[in-house]
Amino acid sequence: MSQQASELFDNFQELTPSEFFRKNKQMLGFTGKIRSMTIVFHELITNSFDAAEEAGILPEIEISLKRVDKDHYVLRHSDNGPGIPEDYIMKVYCTMFAGSKFRNIQSRGQQGLGCSGCVLLSQMTTGEPAKVISSYKEEGELKGVKLEFKMDVKKNKGMLLNRENYEPKHTGVCVELEFKDVSYSMAEQGAFEYIRRTVIGNPHAKIIFTDPTGHKYIFNRAADMVPVLPKEVLPHPKGVTADDLIFMAKHTDKRRFRSLLTSSLSRMSNQRIAEIEEITKIDLNKRPKDMKWEEAERIVEAFSQMNFMAPPTSGLIPIGDEQIEKGMKEILKPEFITATTRKPVTYRGGVAFIIEAGIAYGGDSGRLVNETRKAEIMRFANRVPLTFDQGSCAITESLKSIDWKRYGLRDLDNTPATIFVNIISTQVPYLSTGKQSVAPEPEILHEVKQATMKVARKLQKYLRAKKAAKEEAMRSKIFDDYVPLILKESAALAETEVPEYKEVLAKVTKRSLAELLGENPDKAEEEVEEEFESNKDDGLEATEEEKKKRNQKSNEKKEEQRTLVDRETTLDDI
Ligand SMILES: Nc1ncnc2c1ncn2[C@@H]1O[C@H](COP(=O)(O)OP(=O)(O)O)[C@@H](O)[C@H]1O
Ligand SMILES: [Mg+2]
Repeated sequence: MSQQASELFDNFQELTPSEFFRKNKQMLGFTGKIRSMTIVFHELITNSFDAAEEAGILPEIEISLKRVDKDHYVLRHSDNGPGIPEDYIMKVYCTMFAGSKFRNIQSRGQQGLGCSGCVLLSQMTTGEPAKVISSYKEEGELKGVKLEFKMDVKKNKGMLLNRENYEPKHTGVCVELEFKDVSYSMAEQGAFEYIRRTVIGNPHAKIIFTDPTGHKYIFNRAADMVPVLPKEVLPHPKGVTADDLIFMAKHTDKRRFRSLLTSSLSRMSNQRIAEIEEITKIDLNKRPKDMKWEEAERIVEAFSQMNFMAPPTSGLIPIGDEQIEKGMKEILKPEFITATTRKPVTYRGGVAFIIEAGIAYGGDSGRLVNETRKAEIMRFANRVPLTFDQGSCAITESLKSIDWKRYGLRDLDNTPATIFVNIISTQVPYLSTGKQSVAPEPEILHEVKQATMKVARKLQKYLRAKKAAKEEAMRSKIFDDYVPLILKESAALAETEVPEYKEVLAKVTKRSLAELLGENPDKAEEEVEEEFESNKDDGLEATEEEKKKRNQKSNEKKEEQRTLVDRETTLDDI
């Protein structure tokens, strides 16, 4: 007999976010034992960095991982950040989609899923409670508390099991979690490599890590400055959808469409408002609450036809070439290192981003495989290492499109080099909630390629000079070996004294590496490139028309550059 709707709906339920993720933990990145462990490290480290930097503190993190049994570990992670006020501790660790970073701001976290995800995984695999010690300041007074709690998945909130006062020494958070079905590994995708890369991308941070064998690694900071705090920026008109406008209209306290638009979006002047009215024929003096879907669509359509200044870039704080070099030097001890930070540009018309790239060669650069060093790519987004899903990532795709042979790297794979690429943005276009790969937006692909080609060219210059110096040395050795003999024999034949030749010979044959670098034929090329870059990138704050002009100019420069590169290739072939 068929059932009626009222019976079928007897089982109708609502799922909390925690219940959903309990069944779909892979959506938090928890797939496989090694990856799950790395993601836990990632979530806790990124939170500590975000919190410390926001409070103006140089981050120092201490992590210890103890092995209880096979695939069974206890992780203790403590930081020196501002701490979490007692009332918020269980919200932070037990409520999914809760956090302080739901703003248009450059930060590592942005979804409010990180720590609660870790607590969920711990509870799902061991049934054990989470232990958190938080030391924080309240009205100038240093307070401390130790809580033990579990997550009530049905309610998406915490259940307190124990509370004790804690005598704090300084502010910070210490969290202890137990996990099963996870594994610690030294592989490229393991937790150790994640820490190593984190230190490279964050030279201002100190991490002390005790691994399951009891070995203590101390990663000292290579730089002593807290990064400048990024500012929150308003979204750019080219980056919003009709749904965004309707949402803003619903939640605004503004009384007119026009003031809603000027207060919620960047680059929105009175002149632009008049233009929107002209294009859409909508009276923008209407109340936001009355905004209809169809009107929102028309406004967005108008945005797409209009010219806006590019978004303000005060919200973007890159690592900076000097800091990248410091970070890479500290960890990789390379023979050669160079880095570059591009100027901000936009993707999808309205989201600003910056690409940074670096190359380290020799020393501990590259990945050690069977005792030989191979090239490795380190991808970062807002300083966070991306160690998974590399195949689908814009950074990988862009690097693949580079013709490395042109830069003297005939066999890139077997070169002892580390290539570093970081994307900085308030909205990194991640391909999934796991946040491990960047969408291949054409502008991002272009910028990654430009930045990497620049550092590759510098490496090529170095390698060439090194090769030339080696050849010089060999030539000089041949002279040293044979000329004295010839002189001696000739003197004997002529029955004269053997002449003083050493000093003259040294002058003629020996040139230092520095001298060789000094008289490099590539110099002209680099000057042209710099000029081309500054022309192009200034375009960010410029109007579309100015941009066009500059583009034309830069195309001419590009042509010039190409001829230079062609010349270089021919020289190389000889
Ligand atoms: N170590 C910490 N120190 C201070 N605050 C923290 C720390 N870890 C987490 N938080 C707070 O908890 C919130 C939730 O963290 P999380 O679940 O990782 O989400 P997200 O990082 O995406 O905001 C953060 O936004 C922050 O306010
Ligand atoms: Mg987080």
